[in-house]
Formats: sequence, structure tokens, C-alpha cells
Amino acid sequence: MLLVKVAVFCILFLTNSLSAEEFKPLPNKKIYWSFDGITGSFDRESIQRGYKVYKEVCAACHSMNRIAFRNLQDVGFSEEDVKQIAASYQVKDGPNDLGEMFDRPGIPSDYFIAPFDTKEAAAASNNGAIPPDLSLIVKARHDGANYVYSLLIGYQNGEQDENGLYFNPYFSTGRLAMAPPLSEGMVEYDGARQATVENMSYDVVNFLQWAAEPELEQRNKFGFKVVIYLAILTMFFVLTNNRIWSRLYKKKK
Ligand code: HEC
Repeated sequence: MLLVKVAVFCILFLTNSLSAEEFKPLPNKKIYWSFDGITGSFDRESIQRGYKVYKEVCAACHSMNRIAFRNLQDVGFSEEDVKQIAASYQVKDGPNDLGEMFDRPGIPSDYFIAPFDTKEAAAASNNGAIPPDLSLIVKARHDGANYVYSLLIGYQNGEQDENGLYFNPYFSTGRLAMAPPLSEGMVEYDGARQATVENMSYDVVNFLQWAAEPELEQRNKFGFKVVIYLAILTMFFVLTNNRIWSRLYKKKK
């Protein structure tokens, strides 16, 4: 009898510890990005396409509060393009002389318009989860660019569990509240580029990287100048040093 009890206990213990075993996410895919390394720079065409993906897909749920329309000029949109993009949105402004809020067309200095007015509204539309603001998401996650790319392409046939969460092996717990946001042909690209999930993910990550770190190119250029300056200075010091010491050395002889 005791033996049976011990056996049952062991089995229960084992199955319990197995199911409680922590989920380990897959390592991120490693992508070659033009912005990597000290000579890295932005692929502006990809960023522009990525903005289209953000605008037509992600912006339905995710805000980007830190980016203003005028910032888009950094990535190659003309002043006229930016005016048009901004004016296609209605912005809440005011209060006016009567103390009332009113809507007006956007102008370049306005920030991107958030899809939800409150966190509660965002959660209510997303199965209780709040879609995070994407302005800094690439910096807010370890190995951000590779991670966001992996997450976007990592969904497996849109499977949902009993809590309405979607399986994704790159997410820390393996399940998240975001449905697979991208599917083949979701945005229309100019030219021959195919709107595959991989291509759209690549472009939107380039866009998100620029948004999170727009000063990257300036910093790289500055870093390069500092390195050259230090190299020249070092050469100068070595030469002076040799000269001073060689004189002393000769005197001693
Ligand atoms: C239908 C709404 C919806 C759309 C569209 C959507 N998302 Fe999400 N997203 C969510 C929700 C909800 C979460 C929070 C998930 C959670 O924490 O379980 C989320 C989370 C994320 C995260 C954070 C994951 C993490 O590590 O916490 C990233 C990155 C992300 N989304 C990127 C995108 C991108 C890029 C797009 C466009 C291609 C997009 N999302 C489109 C709803 C959406």
C-alpha cells in the first residue's frame, strides 16, 4: 500500500514539475541590418516602406507618441509629402475662445495620432492587453531589431490557446495577446518588391530602429572623427616622445 502511495506521489510530482517547467523562447534570428556597426547607416527606402507598413497595419493598435510628422523628412519624405500626410489626420486641439475642444487637420509639427484615447480603451479592444507604444520598442527589448523581426515572422498558423493568446516561440512566455499582424500582400509596395511577411517585417523594423535612434548616423560620424583625431594625436605624441628621449639618450653617451 505504501509503495502504491509513493508511486502515485512520484508520478504526480513529476508531471507537475514537467508542466511547470519554464518556457524558453527561441534565440532571435540574426539579420544583416544596414545600421549595424560603427559605419552603419539607414536604408531610407526601406524605412519609407516600413512607415507604410506601420501606418497601414500597426497604427491600428500601436501609438508612436514620440514621433512628429516633420521627423519623416529625415528619412527622405519631402516637405510637401509631410504636409499631405499630416493633413490626412484629424487632430484634437483647443480649447477655443468658447472653451471647447475641436478637430482640425494635422500639421507637420503634430505628433503621430494614437489609435486609442485611453489605456482602458486600448485594453478593451485587445483582449485585456495594452499594445505598447512603438517609438522606443527597439531599444526597450534586448537585441531589439532582431527580436521584433523574429516576433513578427515567428507566428505559427495563428494558433490561439484557451485564453485567446497566440503562440509565438520568440515571445518570452511563448504566448501573447497580439494576433499575427502581417500576412502576405497586406500592403501594396511600389515596384517589384513582394509584400511577403519577411519583407514587410524587415521594412517595419528598419522604420522602428530609425524612430528609436534617429541620431545613429550622426553619432557614428562623430565617433569616426574622434577616432581619427585620437590616431593623429597618438602619432604626434609618439614622435615628440621619441625626439625628447633620443636627445637625452645621446647626451648621456
Ligand atoms: C490588432 C491589434 C494589433 C496590431 C494590428 C499590431 N499589434 Fe503589436 N501588439 C498588440 C498587443 C495587444 C500587444 C501586447 C501583447 C502582449 O503583451 O500580450 C502587442 C505587442 C507588440 C510588441 C511587443 C512585444 C513584447 O515583447 O512585449 C511589438 C514589438 C509589436 N506588438 C509590434 C507590432 C508591429 C510591428 C505591428 C505591425 C506590423 C503590430 N504590432 C500590429 C496588438 C497589435
